[in-house]
Amino acid sequence: FFEKSLKGKTIITTASATREEIDPVRFISNYSSGKMGFALAQMAFNMGAESILISGPSNLETPFGVNRINVKTALEMLNALDTQIQKSKQDTYVIMAAAVSDFKPKQTSNYKIKRQNKDTFILELVQNPDISKTLKEKYPHIKLIGFAAETNDLIENAKAKIDKKGLEFIVLNDVSRKDIGFGSLNNEVTIIFKDGKIEHLPFMTKKEIAYNILKLL
Ligand code: C5P
Repeated sequence: FFEKSLKGKTIITTASATREEIDPVRFISNYSSGKMGFALAQMAFNMGAESILISGPSNLETPFGVNRINVKTALEMLNALDTQIQKSKQDTYVIMAAAVSDFKPKQTSNYKIKRQNKDTFILELVQNPDISKTLKEKYPHIKLIGFAAETNDLIENAKAKIDKKGLEFIVLNDVSRKDIGFGSLNNEVTIIFKDGKIEHLPFMTKKEIAYNILKLL
């Protein structure tokens, strides 16, 4: 049983990792499993919201009651978010749990790149747009929640991101720990709010973390 406290809200959650193609058989990505984002989308529906999940490639099952949209690249994720925000007639929350590729190859080769007669191969990368920042500038009325996977200077890095991206709060993961974070069923996070307040959620399942995050909305 869940109280339907999120009734009347549209909650758009992004999940998993984006992929940026180098050539037809290779890509740049990261270790995000999507479990945290999928748990958030499931819980958002259970708590009465219209729940939309925009996911990078993932084998996870679509949570019950959730409208899932599959994307591959960061740009596709941005475009899907833009469309869904425009459609929403309710209070709109965007939870950016996806691990978005910050960089993509400047060019994608149409054919498989072959071994070459030299020891180094230089792949030129360009930055992807900052999805959160772009959306907040275009739609100031939305409420954005960010995630940060850091290995060092956790609190400092997180605070800088709140301002830069226009977030209500940011959920901090310490990805240097092996028992939580990427791929794990459990997590332990620190939430930093835009007013500087800090709240720690102790070690628990990602479902329980999701519930505690959504209660804050
Ligand atoms: O800067 P960093 O990638 O660590 O920021 C993490 C937060 O920003 C996450 O919520 C992530 O989904 C979001 N992000 C974004 N656009 C990007 C990269 C990350 O909105 N290009």
